[in-house]
Amino acid sequence: MSLPENLQEAIAKEAEKFNLGQISLAREELSDRYQKTDRPKGPLILTDAERCAYLVARLPATYAVIRRVLNEIHLSPSETIESLLDLGAGPGSAMWAACECFSSLDQITLVENDASLMTLGKRLALSSDVPAIQSANWLLRGMESLNGVSTHDLVILSYSIGEIPQRAIEPLIEACWNLTKRYLVIIEPGTPVGFERIRAIRRQLITLKGEMIAPCPHANICPMKEGDWCHFSERIERSSLHRKIKNGALGYEDEKYSYVIFSKTSSSLPEARVLRHPQKRSGHVILSLCGKEGLRQQTVSKRTPEDYKAARKLEWSERWNGCEQT
Ligand SMILES: C[S@@+](CC[C@H](N)C(=O)[O-])C[C@H]1O[C@@H](n2cnc3c(N)ncnc32)[C@H](O)[C@@H]1O
Repeated sequence: MSLPENLQEAIAKEAEKFNLGQISLAREELSDRYQKTDRPKGPLILTDAERCAYLVARLPATYAVIRRVLNEIHLSPSETIESLLDLGAGPGSAMWAACECFSSLDQITLVENDASLMTLGKRLALSSDVPAIQSANWLLRGMESLNGVSTHDLVILSYSIGEIPQRAIEPLIEACWNLTKRYLVIIEPGTPVGFERIRAIRRQLITLKGEMIAPCPHANICPMKEGDWCHFSERIERSSLHRKIKNGALGYEDEKYSYVIFSKTSSSLPEARVLRHPQKRSGHVILSLCGKEGLRQQTVSKRTPEDYKAARKLEWSERWNGCEQT
């Protein structure tokens, strides 16, 4: 999944303000800081070179993941998504992604507490030909205090909840739930820590009577065992600039993510979700699934030709509507 062309061009223009060595070093420093388990308190993106490195090296991945996750929202023919609230918006990754998924969007509010990143996001937005992106309302403030913010159809927290203190997460999720008219989407890195945050938020939203949309095919207790974590992966093509700042590394990267989507109204859930790359062997496919009865492995063989054909096409993260179990 690649970025809209005008966004790619706007990012390339921003990158011209620095030399390759500066962006490369800034990317490394940023990456080290984000990967630390004992992260320093306060902002994690510190300099203009780091903000630019975020655009080049991180935004394409978060954009692609957000788009993938939003594809899990299947609107009924009479439903439209007209407004979006993005918390911890950074340079506006979720806004760009959501506008690709929901052409009906016409009111966007972005909350971000880094003034320079917000200025950068506004500059990128000028390159868009989507009216909702051009006219987005950017609020320079902390997402912990959302007084005065109005309700929106869709509320997104993408890779941002991990940046606020643990004690502030529960009240923030409750506030987000009150601020959404329809859907609440939370995305975190697909690491054990990111997943545990998502799992706790899932528990909280079930208590708040939220209706599960994805990825779980049920609202029962999460069956994931200790030492394992529910996550998915999105392959992202690296731009030539991205490859250069990574010293000629691979032409792609795999971005791991964990997420949850809740809604105010119920929706039909699949029988199961595929939790690993399906093992496609000769004559059979082995699926690792999460379903209403918990985790299971299912072998789909050629003896059930229709199911076998469907299973051969199946990918990690997709829904599976089942067949007889073996
Ligand atoms: C990893 S970036 C994610 C940006 C964007 N959502 C994305 O998916 O690309 C986290 C963002 O959250 C912002 N942030 C961190 N703490 C915040 C807070 N308390 N209030 C508002 N924004 C915050 C950071 O400045 C940063 O822009």
